Amino acid sequence: MKEIAITINDSPVQGREGMTILEVAKENGMDIPTLCHSPELTPVGACRICVVEVEGSRTLVGSCHTPITQGMVIYTHSPKVLETRKAIVELLLASHPDNCLVCDKANQCELRKIAADLEVGLIRFRSRKRYYPIEDVSPYIVRDLSKCILCRRCVRACNEIKKAGVYAMAYRGFDSKVVVDLDEPLDKDVCRDCDMCISHCPTGALSKPRKIGEEKKGKHLVIIG
Ligand code: SF4
Ligand code: SF4
Ligand code: FES
Repeated sequence: MKEIAITINDSPVQGREGMTILEVAKENGMDIPTLCHSPELTPVGACRICVVEVEGSRTLVGSCHTPITQGMVIYTHSPKVLETRKAIVELLLASHPDNCLVCDKANQCELRKIAADLEVGLIRFRSRKRYYPIEDVSPYIVRDLSKCILCRRCVRACNEIKKAGVYAMAYRGFDSKVVVDLDEPLDKDVCRDCDMCISHCPTGALSKPRKIGEEKKGKHLVIIG
């Protein structure tokens, strides 16, 4: 495959034709945060957290879906990039529930980790939450879409890996939502023995139901009875 020479953060590196900026950066030990990206899934460029500065480009570009070209000069952590990423995280948190401390996802939450890495403190944007009832009809999955960041990883994981096509995107703008059928609670037999969407979800929006006899107390799961 054709070798392509680029520069990332002032270091000359080699990539191969067809690779994205994110792939080359990762291969060379440079970290770029991602939310909607997963190496096994088709990139959709939904979250914009992976933006980088490319010399000669008027706007920041999404590194997870932009292929490298010969001679590209890229900055992954310039002040403009960091300021943009911080604003994106703040916008996500402005519409996210404030109950992170009691969320089962806890330190596994990718949004929370990125917010901490970027030292996000007080949110500068007006809080506007999306509240949905928790869906726990399915014996296999609980959906708490108030915590959904619309990354679509569940949709792609179910379509592309499990090939079950359970989810779709619906509605527009602030009302955008991952839906099942005609926006009905998820309850499908195909989900038995599958946790493909749960394992791909970066937040606490998807989880396994607690077993009978398990009860939550504070942040700890206590087995009773
Ligand atoms: S559990 Fe599997 S089949 Fe069910 S919605 Fe998730 S990915 Fe699709
Ligand atoms: S439920 Fe999870 S994986 Fe699916 S879009 Fe929302 S945050 Fe992403
Ligand atoms: S990780 Fe690149 S757009 Fe979401």
